[in-house]
Amino acid sequence: MAGARKIIIDTDPGQDDAAAIMLALGSPEEIDVLGITAVAGNVPVALTAKNARIVCDFANRQDVRVFAGCDRPMKRPLVTAEHVHGATGLDGPALFEPETPLQPEHAIDFIIETLRSEEPGSVTLCPLGALTNIATALTRAPDIAPRIREIVMMGGAYFEVGNITPAAEFNIYVDPEAAEIVFKSGIPIVMIPLDLTHKVLTLKARVDRIRALGTRAATALAEMLDFFERFDIAKYGSDGGPLHDPNVIAYLIRPELYGGRMCNVEIETGSELTLGMTVVDWWQVTGRKHNALVLRDVDADGFFALLTGRVARL
Ligand code: RIB
Ligand code: CA
Repeated sequence: MAGARKIIIDTDPGQDDAAAIMLALGSPEEIDVLGITAVAGNVPVALTAKNARIVCDFANRQDVRVFAGCDRPMKRPLVTAEHVHGATGLDGPALFEPETPLQPEHAIDFIIETLRSEEPGSVTLCPLGALTNIATALTRAPDIAPRIREIVMMGGAYFEVGNITPAAEFNIYVDPEAAEIVFKSGIPIVMIPLDLTHKVLTLKARVDRIRALGTRAATALAEMLDFFERFDIAKYGSDGGPLHDPNVIAYLIRPELYGGRMCNVEIETGSELTLGMTVVDWWQVTGRKHNALVLRDVDADGFFALLTGRVARL
């Protein structure tokens, strides 16, 4: 739709990635999804690509172009998270062989060609998993960097510290070298860390409002969230689990729901003890160049009202 923000969603579905995709597809006035690129992360890329297609089917949007991307990090073996997302990566609803086709083009080629053909500065990249696809595209085609409007990503942690290790958040931990490339790229970055997403909890009342919509997409999402939250409830003893990835899309639609500050963010790639840590200079003590808008505050009720209202449209 004219005026809608052009985005590429790079993702490792993942139940919370599914919520992000549904929110984007339910918001055509504000968001124009040019394509969805799958990356290895929560589960291997064969599954994340299939899951992205299944989510498009749930959203009744079999027209969306889905591409498979990198099957492992740039320099390390793949670490996955079946313990959180289940063996399929999308445990919860009954799954099926999707109608939404897998595009023959590799995701990296799609990212590069799209950025070279779209108006410079008109495309936003929305990584919801490891940054492998993004960093690989930037390395293979450095000319695309100045053509990217912004990278709005879910990843990292500072005050909340890590979720996959005591120091690191999963998306950064899976491919710290890729994250280092992205954070040193000079491209405008909005970072949505665990510090924010741990305030966005799938409280029973919130999930019940989604379930009450009664549509195919809403029912599937509620079933995904019922499964997805169990791990974090057991770990943190919270009412509901953190809903990470859809905050990336919600920020694009209603940035006023969010707050944060420009910071310098560096990535630990040397120490095994703190590998993948995002070292956020929140208190501005280093004098190092600001390279990311780090968000920490969110109106969680406002977020869920937006998510529920847009999923209702699918
Ligand atoms: O640490 C949370 C992130 O890791 C989310 O994007 C989740 O989907 C997993 O990819
Ligand atoms: Ca994800």
